[in-house]
Amino acid sequence: MTDPTRTLGVAVVGYSFMGRAHSNAWRNVGAFYPGVPQVRMQTLVGRDEAKVGQAAAELGWAGTATDWRSLLDRDDIDIIDVCTPGHLHAEVALAALKAGKHVLVEKPLANSVAECEELVAAAAASSSRSLLGFNYRRVPALALARELVRDGRIGTVQEARISYLQDWLSDPQAPMTWRLRKETAGSGVLGDLGSHAVDQLHYLLGEHVTQASGTLRTFVPQRPGPDGTEAVTVDDAAWATLHTASGVVASLEVSRVATGRKNALAIELYGTTGSLRFDLERLNELVLTEAGDARTAGASTILVTEPEHPYVEAWWPAGHVLGWDHTFTSQAADFLRAIATDDPVHATFEDGLAAQRVLAAIEASHARGGTLTDTGN
Ligand SMILES: NC(=O)c1ccc[n+]([C@@H]2O[C@H](COP(=O)([O-])OP(=O)(O)OC[C@H]3O[C@@H](n4cnc5c(N)ncnc54)[C@H](O)[C@@H]3O)[C@@H](O)[C@H]2O)c1
Repeated sequence: MTDPTRTLGVAVVGYSFMGRAHSNAWRNVGAFYPGVPQVRMQTLVGRDEAKVGQAAAELGWAGTATDWRSLLDRDDIDIIDVCTPGHLHAEVALAALKAGKHVLVEKPLANSVAECEELVAAAAASSSRSLLGFNYRRVPALALARELVRDGRIGTVQEARISYLQDWLSDPQAPMTWRLRKETAGSGVLGDLGSHAVDQLHYLLGEHVTQASGTLRTFVPQRPGPDGTEAVTVDDAAWATLHTASGVVASLEVSRVATGRKNALAIELYGTTGSLRFDLERLNELVLTEAGDARTAGASTILVTEPEHPYVEAWWPAGHVLGWDHTFTSQAADFLRAIATDDPVHATFEDGLAAQRVLAAIEASHARGGTLTDTGN
């Protein structure tokens, strides 16, 4: 347990998309969650000195470093927040835990089941706290959905549908990035958006996927790279049928070539006495249908902005809607609270391993022509 009155020094590794989102969270967390330990935004890390310097000035960091290893023996760094491509997650997080730092890792936990297992073991052996950044767990409507499922409000869940669709790769001329190379990303949309989707299924249902069958497709096999045309070595889209231990069957569909869809995470849960529907593009809303009284049967849309709803009290009065970025601040708050109290915090590295096992089973199933494959969960 860390002295809750001590101000904690934070370093973020990576300063682009997630580096910016997490910087915003570290900057705001003390203002909106005043009960958690305060933080000092100590060091932003990137390989290019000029670029990381510019980002640090924009985002409010006290200093910069060009090698994440320089953080390890610094007494003024308590938390290392890993916002790099996936192939670096395990290396940085393992070193950080070994150095006694608290560690936050962006999703997916790592690029392979073996790396995830190593991280789970290291986290278990460490007295430091660790957290995996499945930030959608802090969307108030999804946290409420979990509560309603747990409370039995829709009966026994039998079916689920999850799709997560984007279109930034629809254009065949969209350039190569680390996300399209197996050696840096591990997989394509499967690890990128599929990891979020599988984690939501685990989170909402409170149980794991034990069997999966899947299909992957790369629609654009080559893209313009910095040195000419380059082969795309990961999937553009993936489909899977997932089975849980209790018998829930879920369909999963993820794509980065779904023309017209920007960041469309849609979740539907169907239970014996009701159902729940969520759409990230309307993230303040949760649609609940309860069977029973025929006069009131039908969908009701809950505006999830009441102080009684998860996470909302920290923010604005009812009806003053929240956005995607609030999830990262709430995530930082939960992590800081856990550091100060030793209370459990999710998503754990075990949660990351459980999701990775499902993704690996989908890939293995695809390689065998779509056969049903055990996940090991
Ligand atoms: N939670 C979410 O919704 C969400 C959304 C997007 C990305 N992500 C995850 O966040 C992570 C980062 O993705 P991103 O979108 O920010 O990618 P990005 O390409 O925008 O940024 C990656 C950053 O890592 C830095 N980097 C690369 N190698 C480095 C090294 N050796 N040392 C220090 N810095 C290095 C790059 O300079 C860059 O700043 C990935 O794991 C990704 O899956 C999560």
